Amino acid sequence: MIEVRQKVFRLSTKSTSYLFRILPTGHLENLHYGRLLAWQDFQGLYMKQNAGVGSSVLYEEGGYTLDLLPLEYSFNGKGDFREMPFEIKMPDGSYVCDFHYESHEILEGTLPMEEMPTAKGEEAETLVVHLRDTLHPLRMTLVYTVFSNCDVITRRAVIENRSDQPVEILKFMSMQLDLLMDHPEVLTLSGGWIREAQKERHRLPVGSFLQESRTGGSSNRHNPGLLLMEKNATEDFGKVYGFNLLYSGNHRSVVEKTSHGLVRVHQGISPHNFSWVLESGETFRTPEAVMTVSMDGMNGVSHHFHDFINRHIISKEFQYKERPVLMNNWEATFFDFNERKILSLAREAKKLGVELFVLDDGWFGERNSDRAGLGDYGENRKKLPSGIKGLAEKIKAMGLDFGLWFEPEMVNEDSDLYRNHPEYALQVPGRTPSKGRHQLVLDINRREVQDYIIKEVSHLLESCDISYVKWDMNRHMSDVYSDAVNHQGMAFHGHILGLYRVLKILTERFPKVLFESCSSGGNRFDLGMLSYMPQVWASDNTDPISRLSIQEGLSYFYPLSTIGAHVSESPHQQTLRKTPLETRFHVASFGVLGYELELTHLNLKEKEEVKKQIAWYKKYRSLMQFGRFYRFDSVRENRVNFQVVSEDRKKTVQGFFQKMQEPSPPFDVMPFKGLHHENTYVVRTREASMDIEVFGSLLKHVMPIKLSPGGLILRNARKLYRLPHNVEEYTAKGDLLSEGLRIHQQFMGTGYQKDTRMLGDFGSQLMVGEMKEEN
Ligand code: DGJ
Repeated sequence: MIEVRQKVFRLSTKSTSYLFRILPTGHLENLHYGRLLAWQDFQGLYMKQNAGVGSSVLYEEGGYTLDLLPLEYSFNGKGDFREMPFEIKMPDGSYVCDFHYESHEILEGTLPMEEMPTAKGEEAETLVVHLRDTLHPLRMTLVYTVFSNCDVITRRAVIENRSDQPVEILKFMSMQLDLLMDHPEVLTLSGGWIREAQKERHRLPVGSFLQESRTGGSSNRHNPGLLLMEKNATEDFGKVYGFNLLYSGNHRSVVEKTSHGLVRVHQGISPHNFSWVLESGETFRTPEAVMTVSMDGMNGVSHHFHDFINRHIISKEFQYKERPVLMNNWEATFFDFNERKILSLAREAKKLGVELFVLDDGWFGERNSDRAGLGDYGENRKKLPSGIKGLAEKIKAMGLDFGLWFEPEMVNEDSDLYRNHPEYALQVPGRTPSKGRHQLVLDINRREVQDYIIKEVSHLLESCDISYVKWDMNRHMSDVYSDAVNHQGMAFHGHILGLYRVLKILTERFPKVLFESCSSGGNRFDLGMLSYMPQVWASDNTDPISRLSIQEGLSYFYPLSTIGAHVSESPHQQTLRKTPLETRFHVASFGVLGYELELTHLNLKEKEEVKKQIAWYKKYRSLMQFGRFYRFDSVRENRVNFQVVSEDRKKTVQGFFQKMQEPSPPFDVMPFKGLHHENTYVVRTREASMDIEVFGSLLKHVMPIKLSPGGLILRNARKLYRLPHNVEEYTAKGDLLSEGLRIHQQFMGTGYQKDTRMLGDFGSQLMVGEMKEEN
């Protein structure tokens, strides 16, 4: 709800308020962002400058210093010396500007942009505040959209050049939030290829904390999501602010703390290599930034983000729509496949319960390795004699849906596209372009390149029965130079605008096709891509132990329905870690489940296990993809717990994951969050089984005869027998469960009993809780 009284603006969501007011000069002072506040005399929140501070600049004689005010948005050169959200070379050649309040409007719904994605929602409300520079005919607009149902407010800014000369924008952040905080801390996600979304938590010093992507994409190095919290905030307690950006290109977040306890947050397009020349009469809009706040710790903020994304970012067609269990051939075959091989994998997948078969890289042109073929999307008839159409039909006839991989934003030099159109690739005239994965980046600033991509992808989607597209993008950008822009400072952002045009047209043309975004795994996991593609391949690293931190990191900002998670081979292809099949599944089940391994290599017992996994996942799929997700403050280094709870709180699943086995480990307690305290639940371990190979020569303790652990009999025995996990069942009320179930002890060499929890290194279990109906 948006209300304005006596120059005070109050934006309220279900449980938060955002307040600011117009100062007598026309500047906007932020008063509050936090818990819901009733209308009252807000003077208690006005900033008091009755003592003044030596050496500061007063905006006007007898007035205030801007440097000591929490401001809605700041302008350069009038005495605010903190980080500036906006830097522009004005018509007079100076960098000084000073925008004041002029008017405002309140609109129903959102205010979408043509060129970039914005959050959707008819029930939203939008406040548009118009500002004008006191000297030059330049107008700025601050746009606030309130999504009350998920406690989110989005922000963006617009500049319009009404002067008769061009102006040059050097920096233009989407939002500014000034707060008063003691000892603030930030949490961000950093990383790289196969180690995406590693959380980092820092206490802020006086000065600026900056996190930025300069790779051209939102990047696996620094995700745009950021949490700002009070000291000692935990997963469930404390005041935590959350920020994110609907943008897939270079971005920047800055948090600056001053010695007076003012904290400033900015998010927006990175000013790195950015300068936008705004001709007379032109307008420039920033991407939309997302803000939320919770008094219930980091889980509270994540719940707001998850609801917001599921309701307002994901396209209508896929909102709360269960995602299919897929099989992807990549890690099973890489480039080395033919139709027979693909059909045999698909047949096996179908038997195990898979719903969608995805053909990955290598199906087109001369794409037999990553050195050639990108750009030529004609089928390779040597590998696929009946083409994609024929293959799709055969796979469909098996009762599976069919999906296909593309990497449309790229080109190999060894391709017909490049031979015919070298000008399509980003490169500086006269300079040899640098390559990544042997490929160049197409210049999507160019309209003809956008149209080429739209045409190629549309052709396949129109002519073949394809219900899913994996849209890959496998390198960072270099040699950024485009003939399609007048000023090279516009090329990075122009590229992303070109990409958004392509994605908008394709997803509107094929609304029923499920797109999964991928960029060497999670190199472009952001709200911009999610606006078009409901899920993202989180990482090329499918080792479940690595995935625990990757998926946990992502969960701070993104719901499980967006996180593609696959079961792959062991030992793992990147970490060489050997992990149990159950754990690979248990981790992947907290996401959108898929399988990506040579299924025909599984033994009979493993296939049975996989079949049970898929059947279990389908039964609990809506809970695993859309349930309320909870993290736990780590009790022990070695242990991670994840939990999901259904919206009606009648069902829950908790995962218990052990990284390394401790000798004689402490007792394990599993507290359940989010349940109805007064209701009774039955909680039971998911039945799973383990490979007896892990016992090696220890089997002599339980077998009547002595067998060699590496011998023929035992090697064959594991194909015929898997040891069932211990199953525990409890009936208890939610209040007891919230205190924590004291579960069975783990194995510690004192002999095997069927009630002992056998986990070992990388062991795991799922506990499923269901409310008893008589309640
Ligand atoms: C990178 C992706 O992350 C992989 O899953 C796979 O699709 C390869 N590209 C194919 O080249």
